[in-house]
Amino acid sequence: MIVLIFIFLIQELYSYGMGDYRTYTHRNDGASNNSHVTIEWFTQILDHFNPVDDRKWQQRFFTNNQFYDHSTGGPVFLMIGGEDEAYITWMTQGAWIDYAKKFKAFCFQLEHRYYGKSHATKDLSIAKLRYLNVEQALADSAQFIFEMNKKYQFPANTKWIVFGGSYSGSLAAWMRLKYPHLVYGAVSSSSILLAVVEYSGYLKTTYESLKTYSNKCVDAIQEGFFKIDSLLHGDSKSLNKIFQLCDPIEESLNNTKDIQNLHRILVGSFVEAARFNNINEFGSFRNTTINSVCNIMENKKLGSPIDRVAAVNRLSQSNYGQNCVDFKYKNMLDFYGNISYSNETCGKTYAGRPYKYQECTQFGHGLSSAFEPPVFGNHLSIEFFTQVCVDLFGPEFNSTFIQKAVDRTNMFYGGLDIDITRVIFIQGSIDPWHPLGLLKTRNPKAHVIFINGTAHMADFYPKSDKDLPQLTAAREQIVKYISEWLKPKN
Ligand SMILES: *[C@@H]1O[C@H](CO)[C@@H](O)[C@H](O)[C@H]1NC(C)=O
Ligand SMILES: *[C@@H]1O[C@H](CO)[C@@H](O)[C@H](O)[C@H]1NC(C)=O
Ligand SMILES: *[C@@H]1O[C@H](CO)[C@@H](O)[C@H](O)[C@H]1NC(C)=O
Ligand SMILES: *[C@@H]1O[C@H](CO)[C@@H](O)[C@H](O)[C@H]1NC(C)=O
Ligand SMILES: *[C@@H]1O[C@H](CO)[C@@H](O)[C@H](O)[C@H]1NC(C)=O
Ligand SMILES: *[C@@H]1O[C@H](CO)[C@@H](O)[C@H](O)[C@H]1NC(C)=O
Ligand SMILES: *[C@@H]1O[C@H](CO)[C@@H](O)[C@H](O)[C@H]1NC(C)=O
Repeated sequence: MIVLIFIFLIQELYSYGMGDYRTYTHRNDGASNNSHVTIEWFTQILDHFNPVDDRKWQQRFFTNNQFYDHSTGGPVFLMIGGEDEAYITWMTQGAWIDYAKKFKAFCFQLEHRYYGKSHATKDLSIAKLRYLNVEQALADSAQFIFEMNKKYQFPANTKWIVFGGSYSGSLAAWMRLKYPHLVYGAVSSSSILLAVVEYSGYLKTTYESLKTYSNKCVDAIQEGFFKIDSLLHGDSKSLNKIFQLCDPIEESLNNTKDIQNLHRILVGSFVEAARFNNINEFGSFRNTTINSVCNIMENKKLGSPIDRVAAVNRLSQSNYGQNCVDFKYKNMLDFYGNISYSNETCGKTYAGRPYKYQECTQFGHGLSSAFEPPVFGNHLSIEFFTQVCVDLFGPEFNSTFIQKAVDRTNMFYGGLDIDITRVIFIQGSIDPWHPLGLLKTRNPKAHVIFINGTAHMADFYPKSDKDLPQLTAAREQIVKYISEWLKPKN
C-alpha cells in the first residue's frame, strides 16, 4: 500500500488528447502550512447565462497575500484552474510566484468548476454536465474577480493579470479577450487555442521531438510498432508476455477498440517523454525523458525493437504504480462512465470524465496516427475518439456533432486568429501541443515567445539548474513584458 498521508495524487495536467487516467504522485511540500496561504470557498453562480436561475455552488480558491502591501497597492495575479484539481503548491512555488514577489502581487488560484473539490453539481451525469463549458468557466472567473475586488477592497484601477498553462492557458487568453474590463493582461503558457476534431500533430510532434535525439531512435520505434502489427496477425499470444498485458490479447483480436486502446496506451509513454521532458515538477523530474526513452530504444541489449517499446512502456508504468497493461476498451469506458466525483481522501483523482466531456463538446483534439512516416503504426483513427464520445454520452455525440462543436469553439474564440492585446503566449518546440497554439504574433501588442527545446508549460514550473538558457531568457522576457504593463499610465 502506498502511504497517502501528505502525498497528493494528481491527474496529469491535461491528458493525452485521448485522455488518460493514470495518476502521477507528487509530494505535498507543506504549502498549506504557510501562514500567508489560505484555502477558501466562494459562492458561485451555476448558470451565468440565465439571470432567473439563482442556483449556487461552492467553488474553492487559494490565496497568498505574502507579497502584497495594501498601503502601496500592487497588481493582483489570478491563476486560473484547468482540468485538474487545484494544487496548493502553486501558491508558494512556480514562476508566477517569482513574478509575484517582484511585482508585489496578491495571488489567487481559482479551481475550475467540476474539477477537484469544486463540485458545481451533485454528480457528473450527462444532464448535470451541461453547465460544464468554457463560457461558464470564464464567467466564473469574471464573477470571482468582480466579487474579490469588493471583498478585498483593492484600490480602484488595480490591475488583474491572469495566468494559466495548457487548457487553463487558453482560458487565461480567452479571459483577456472576453473580459478586458476585468483583466488587464494574461500570461498564457502552452495554450491550446485551436479546436480540431482530429489532431494527428500530437503524435507527429512527438515523433519530431524524439527525432531531435536521433534517427536511430525513431527508426527503432517504427520497427517495434511494425512488429506489433505483424504479431497481431500471427503469433498474437506472444504479445501478452512482451507487454505484460492484463488480459489475453487473443480474445480481443476481433475487437478493434481493444486493439486501438492498446496502441493509445503504448504511444502514451512516448508522448509523455516529449510532453514532460525535463520539466521541474516541484523538485522532481520524471524518468521518462527523450534521452531515457531513446537510450532504451537504441539499446540492443534490451532485445529487439518490440522488446524495447515494451521496456519504454514499463518505465512509464513504473511512474503510475501499474504492473500490467489494462488495454480493455470496456475498462476505459467504465472509468469515464463513472458519474461520481473522485474522492481524494481515498487517494483517487478523477479528472477524466469531465474533461472527456469538454473534448467531445468543445475541443475535439482526437488522437490520430494519420501522418507519415507511420512511426506509431496506423491503428489510431479518429473513429476511435468519436466512438468514445458516443459510447459515453449518447448517439447524438457523433462526428457531425463534434465537428459542429469544434467550429462553435473556434467561432467564439477565434482559434489561431485570436486578436488580442497584452497577452504573452509561450510555446515550447518539443511540446506535442504546440502546433495548436499561437507561434507568431498577430497583433503587435500581443507577445509570442517560442522556446527552442522545451516541453509543455516548461516556463510555468519553478526554475531549476537544469533549465536551458533559452528557458531562463523566456522567463526574463515575461518579467519585462509584465513590468511594461504595470508601468503607471500604460
Ligand atoms: C505541516 O503541518 C503538518 C500538521 O500540522 C505537519 O505534520 C507537517 O510536518 C507540516 N509540514 C511542513 C512542511 O511544515
Ligand atoms: C474472429 O472473427 C473471425 C472471422 O469473422 C472468426 O473466424 C474467428 O473465430 C473470430 N475469433 C474470435 C476469437 O472471436
Ligand atoms: C522511475 O520513477 C518512478 C517514480 O519516481 C520510480 O518508481 C521508478 O522506479 C523509476 N524507474 C526507473 C527504471 O528508474
Ligand atoms: C466511481 O467512483 C467512486 C469514487 O471514486 C467510487 O467510490 C466508485 O466505486 C466508482 N463506481 C464504480 C461503479 O466504479
Ligand atoms: C471519501 O472517502 C472517505 C474515506 O474513504 C470517506 O470517509 C468519505 O465519506 C468519502 N467522501 C465522499 C464524498 O464520498
Ligand atoms: C449524427 O446524428 C445526427 C442526429 O443526431 C444525424 O443527423 C447525423 O447524420 C449523424 N451523423 C453521422 C455521421 O452519423
Ligand atoms: C534549436 O536547438 C537545436 C539544438 O540545440 C538546434 O540544432 C536548432 O538549430 C535550434 N533551432 C532553432 C530554430 O534555433
